Amino acid sequence: MTLEDRVRQAVGAVSDPELRRPIGDLDMLRDITVVGAHANVGIALTIVGCPASDRIESDVRRAAASVAGISEVTVDLGVMTPTERKALTEKLRDGRPARQMPFGPGSLTRVILVSSGKGGVGKSTLTANLAVALAEQGLAVGLVDADVHGFSIPGLLGIPAGTQPTRIDDLMLPPVAHGVKTISIGMFLRDGEAVVAWRGPMLHRTVQQFLTDVFFGDLDVLLIDMPPGTGDIAISIGQILPHAEVLVVTTPQTAASDVAIRSGLVARQTGQRVIGVVENMTAFTLPDGTVVDLFGSGGGAEVAAALSQPASGGQPNSEAEPVTEVPLLASIPLSPALRAGGDMGIPVVLGEPKDAAAQAIQALADTLAHQGRGLAGRSLPMSLS
Ligand SMILES: Nc1ncnc2c1ncn2[C@@H]1O[C@H](COP(=O)(O)OP(=O)(O)O)[C@@H](O)[C@H]1O
Ligand SMILES: [Mg+2]
Repeated sequence: MTLEDRVRQAVGAVSDPELRRPIGDLDMLRDITVVGAHANVGIALTIVGCPASDRIESDVRRAAASVAGISEVTVDLGVMTPTERKALTEKLRDGRPARQMPFGPGSLTRVILVSSGKGGVGKSTLTANLAVALAEQGLAVGLVDADVHGFSIPGLLGIPAGTQPTRIDDLMLPPVAHGVKTISIGMFLRDGEAVVAWRGPMLHRTVQQFLTDVFFGDLDVLLIDMPPGTGDIAISIGQILPHAEVLVVTTPQTAASDVAIRSGLVARQTGQRVIGVVENMTAFTLPDGTVVDLFGSGGGAEVAAALSQPASGGQPNSEAEPVTEVPLLASIPLSPALRAGGDMGIPVVLGEPKDAAAQAIQALADTLAHQGRGLAGRSLPMSLS
């Protein structure tokens, strides 16, 4: 190998921070020349002013300088031509036509919706932490914030205000936070702008675009933070992702169970499968052993038991209503650290992994990661009477 070849090999292995692939595979390398111990490396960025360019430049510089015999590096940053960019977006789509939703029933990605009957039960906090915990286990994880009116995922993951997806022509690259590829309406709004007036069709289009035009690449798991209840967005997602799995989040308060049960039943009506219930804000134990039980107990078990019943009182698991047992998958205690981590944008599973809530969420991530796709999407839509 010539010195030039070795520099090309080292530099080609540098990963594009947004596309998460080696820049050699992305055809971003241009001329590489070596004169004496001085390497001159040409790089073609995907777009002008690419936000990742500083990082790419410094990684390329370091990679080239690591080659024995090179002591000086000049990086020449250019931009791809429209033709080169088109070839790249086609390569990234991997033969899939543009505007096709990649998470259909044939996809290898597990799609898990995190739903609840009412707001404020900790759905978004759980989704953000679960996503990070799954990514920590080495899974490729995406997160769609489908709570368009009440989005909170960017803040929970510490994505700075003003962060936008990078666009390569018609591909949108989701920002990556703590290893999770994330998209939220909050990334598209100007300061103080609101979406209060948005109604059904616009919400449907937004969710559809998140799932279709955002380039997540090959994901193991896509988590979707749902808005509370069973409104327009839940219905749209039921139509777009009828094979999705659903986690229902509720508090221990039995008075809150009814709405949680209803959200699970409505999901099931579209063909989605409720894979479990998560009880959040359960009792916690003070250092002196006192148990603080703010929201009572039993709500999670109640919801799980109700969702394990066929909705119209028939026999469980009969052909018409293939209802399977819905387990209570996790109980997450009240935790000041969980709340504070959300406020700071450092999920507790990273910031304070020994915290009891963090451990409960990690255990849930383990359970989900080892579950496989199971029977997701195989059950028939049920009718509610
Ligand atoms: N287990 C918990 N312990 C303490 N605070 C929690 C817990 N779960 C959630 N919270 C807090 O409750 C509030 C609502 O949580 P959030 O995730 O926004 O709920 P939702 O998405 O269901 O509306 C947030 O301030 C969050 O930090
Ligand atoms: Mg929320």
